Amino acid sequence: MTLPLTTTKSEEIFASAQKIMPGGVNSPVRAFKSVGGQPIVFDRVKGAYAWDVDGNQYIDYVGSWGPAICGHAHPDVINALKAALEKGTSFGAPCLLENILAEMVIDAVPSVEMVRFVNSGTEACLSVLRLMRAFTGREKLIKFEGCYHGHGDMFLVKAGSGVATLGLPDSPGVPKSVTISTLTAPYNDLEAVKQLFNENPGEIAGVILEPIVGNAGFIPPDGGFLEGLRVLTRENGALLVFDEVMTGFRIAYGGVQEKFGVIPDLTTLGKVIGGGLPVGAYGGRRDIMSMVAPAGPMYQAGTLSGNPLAMTAGIKTLELLQKPGTYEYLDKITKKLSNGLLQIAKETGHAACGGQISGMFGLFFTPGPVHNYEDAKKSDLAKFSRFHRGMLERGIYLAPSQFEAGFTSLAHTDEDIDKTLAAAREVMSSL
Ligand SMILES: Cc1ncc(COP(=O)(O)O)c(C=O)c1O
Repeated sequence: MTLPLTTTKSEEIFASAQKIMPGGVNSPVRAFKSVGGQPIVFDRVKGAYAWDVDGNQYIDYVGSWGPAICGHAHPDVINALKAALEKGTSFGAPCLLENILAEMVIDAVPSVEMVRFVNSGTEACLSVLRLMRAFTGREKLIKFEGCYHGHGDMFLVKAGSGVATLGLPDSPGVPKSVTISTLTAPYNDLEAVKQLFNENPGEIAGVILEPIVGNAGFIPPDGGFLEGLRVLTRENGALLVFDEVMTGFRIAYGGVQEKFGVIPDLTTLGKVIGGGLPVGAYGGRRDIMSMVAPAGPMYQAGTLSGNPLAMTAGIKTLELLQKPGTYEYLDKITKKLSNGLLQIAKETGHAACGGQISGMFGLFFTPGPVHNYEDAKKSDLAKFSRFHRGMLERGIYLAPSQFEAGFTSLAHTDEDIDKTLAAAREVMSSL
């Protein structure tokens, strides 16, 4: 990669895009607002790599924001999709592929006895909230500062990620009457949750959280936090919901709940289970899921839900993940990356902290430790922006925000990690 990066075509395309789509994108963080500079316009992706429209190649640590865990455009997924395409792109009727993916999800995710497929993580979270309320007959919800559960009105309170990146504490257009039922607590703070339960007796439908946070940067739960939430929700007749849209099939095959052995009542999924096509899902205890229409009275539907192409990509992706050694490999290369970044930061005199579990990692430019969103916000954002740009110019594509986790894939090699660390050493030496 020669410096400076030539991005003439990216700039032309993005300039046109800004005239015809808000901010030039279809999802805000892609616009690079928080790191500054022009976003790169992608042309194609394969394995661990992405190529932009100017022909530059990048080692990609965004992985389409999580789905590309087997590497982009895995040949098995592509071949299965080609065969499925011949049978049509959408049925709008029951199909066997839905049963197959549903059984795979139920076998894998400890809390899931029944599942409903939808088209995005946002849709999964919107639906699960309706179900929490329908099942308990209560309206209030506890969420955590910096956790993102899609862009539904009642979740856009201290929602981390893109919302934080744009500096919008909330969004205009979200009625107060909706968010009044959304109570928030700092992540990893059991006492705050206890207090909310005490102040709102018999009114809280449940607690939803990212069991490992990815939308305020990478923040794992402190020991006892998930277990404590399990006890508190049970004691108060409320439901515990793990939003595993990001962590499901990534932290372990059965998600964070398998890894840490804490079983929620309901779970939302997305990203990996669609293998790069639009899929979300919510599932959980049979008695609760039996309330969903048409088995029960809680309405939720979708024209393209259970789409045969999306189911096919999901099935093939999960099959690939079932191979022995998958998660050990992800953990090994990601540990090498994360430890390497921290070591280089130390050697080059930058205060930094971070970590990884399996194929998910994060690096904050603050001494830390980071236990919650307030801690994450102490990061040196200007330094992160310079780091991000320096890495981009050296062919390393990182998430364009300090408040996003990074992702590796089975296609990332030792050599890719070595190249990434060499680039990081150059950039951090000149920050
Ligand atoms: C934990 C979590 N929940 C929900 C969502 C929303 O998913 P989607 O973008 O597919 O609507 C995301 C997206 O990043 C997420 O990370």
